[in-house]
Amino acid sequence: MLYPQSNRYRRVFDLSDFWDIHFDPDREGRPAGWASGFVDGQPIAVPASWNEQFDSMRDYLGIAWYQTCFDAPWDITDQKYILRFGSVNYLAEAWLNGTRLGSHEGGHLPFEFDVTQLLHAENNRLVVRVDGALAPNRVPPGNVPLNTLDRFGEVNYPDSSFDFFPYCGIHRPVLLYAVAPDGLSDVTIITDINGDTGLVSVHIQRRESTPARARLTLQGHGASISTTVEVDAQAEVTLKVPRAALWAPGSPNLYDLNIELEKDSRVFDRYTLPVGIRTIRVEGDQLLLNGRPIYLRGFGRHEDFPIVGRGLLPALIVKDYALMDWIGANSFRTSHYPYSEQMMALADRLGFLVIDETPAVGLFFDEDGLDRRLDLCCQYTRELIDRDKNHPSVIAWSLANEPHSHRPPAGEFFRNLYDLARSMDTTRPITVVTTVGEKEEAFAFVDFMCLNRYYAWYSEPGQLDIGCERLSEELDALYSRYHKPLALTEFGADTVAGCHAEPPEMFSEEYQVEMLARYIDVLRSKPFVIGEHVWNMCDFKTGQMVRRVGGYNLKGVFTRDRRPKMAAHYLRQLWKGDKAR
Ligand code: GCU
Repeated sequence: MLYPQSNRYRRVFDLSDFWDIHFDPDREGRPAGWASGFVDGQPIAVPASWNEQFDSMRDYLGIAWYQTCFDAPWDITDQKYILRFGSVNYLAEAWLNGTRLGSHEGGHLPFEFDVTQLLHAENNRLVVRVDGALAPNRVPPGNVPLNTLDRFGEVNYPDSSFDFFPYCGIHRPVLLYAVAPDGLSDVTIITDINGDTGLVSVHIQRRESTPARARLTLQGHGASISTTVEVDAQAEVTLKVPRAALWAPGSPNLYDLNIELEKDSRVFDRYTLPVGIRTIRVEGDQLLLNGRPIYLRGFGRHEDFPIVGRGLLPALIVKDYALMDWIGANSFRTSHYPYSEQMMALADRLGFLVIDETPAVGLFFDEDGLDRRLDLCCQYTRELIDRDKNHPSVIAWSLANEPHSHRPPAGEFFRNLYDLARSMDTTRPITVVTTVGEKEEAFAFVDFMCLNRYYAWYSEPGQLDIGCERLSEELDALYSRYHKPLALTEFGADTVAGCHAEPPEMFSEEYQVEMLARYIDVLRSKPFVIGEHVWNMCDFKTGQMVRRVGGYNLKGVFTRDRRPKMAAHYLRQLWKGDKAR
């Protein structure tokens, strides 16, 4: 899926603004015809979650109706007009000028509707019905009955089966864009390296099949390589880049790939995208980037900030990359859902490695509703790979976080998802992030193992000696059983900024430092460990429960407003030293 782009042949109109919102707890909106417009709404910022824009609506996860009115920003011609939503959580249904466009289930992934036949020159009314409810047959699940096998152990409010606040609303930009009816609909790029030559294979797809010619030009780092190819519905070419400037952390070299479509010598479409020439693969006990072992230093994170909730906040993205650079991180996981296109684009430009995760968190394997949960996970896997497949920064797909996969159906469930992901992307490693250790059947077929562990926190509290012994034993047991590299994708301690104790004690900054240091010593003693991702980069909002002070998870090495705790300084000293090596 191509992100909308403006140029001589394409136009983009951003509908970010104050929209009207009308909450609908009694579900009167549909029978009352709000799909064609409603009155008595109140202003709401789009994009952003609704939960913290209105104090009274923080815990409201029900139905809300949004509307915005706009004039067509251009003369309406024979172009195709598409409405694109970057992320709406959880279930969206949309109407334009009273005509139903369709619906989409699942937040954090884009969806679009063709509105060519519906767009008016003036007074367009776009209405979106958002349903944020938690339900057992949704992914991620919530409100799972207490007597259900493997429901999330914590009783929290709202009752999510995951440890982050279930923010709702239109979280990323809504864009109206115009494109040639037979223009480009998709581009897939796969890069490889042969000696010092970069190989860039480009597959182009068009919306309609008409005779045309494609002109591809790859420019950058002193190179300018062009080729043309006749294209009807689709075409594939490989560009060779002598003495290629490879993409890697520290040297995120990007080229510009410019694709033009022309017929009768007249250009009618153009799309430009960045290309990073790199390879990623698992070989033996190592993760190889451009044929060299790479060790992942970084974090599990969240898209989370006061007031905007999970809404796109570009300045925060810039700040967080600056902090990751400051601390010496080279990677992160998009826990526990795909992050914004804007976050992914900067990972390419700034040179960060990303484990890209679907929204499948808190999965349980009761037969009841399992088929639907699998369908949703397949949908999310397809949408994620379709959206992020051209990012050099994406080095692996994570199919889920902490599924309750010690149950029999889990192995087959993840085999299906693994095969689907592999069929869409033959290049990147695929993994599942687990907490069930050796019982994780997916470890038999994923390309490397990802484990979350909290010894000396949730178990052996305050006993780092025993906790680290258990960690070491378990890592060895996992390796001897599966003989695959392993990343520890979560470890950490809730820490109240300003709380100190000597000797270290749980919740003190000293304990967080001590725990991270002791874990990292264990990890770095294992040749098969390929990464250390601390949980979490920043404190973040959760539901309310006895373990979450003020409704926050405090395992951040930075506070929620991005101020460093002692652990941030410890990691900076360690990781900056690593970078120097
Ligand atoms: C789990 C989970 C996280 C959660 C963390 C914690 O590993 O993956 O989402 O926040 O534990 O309990 O802090």
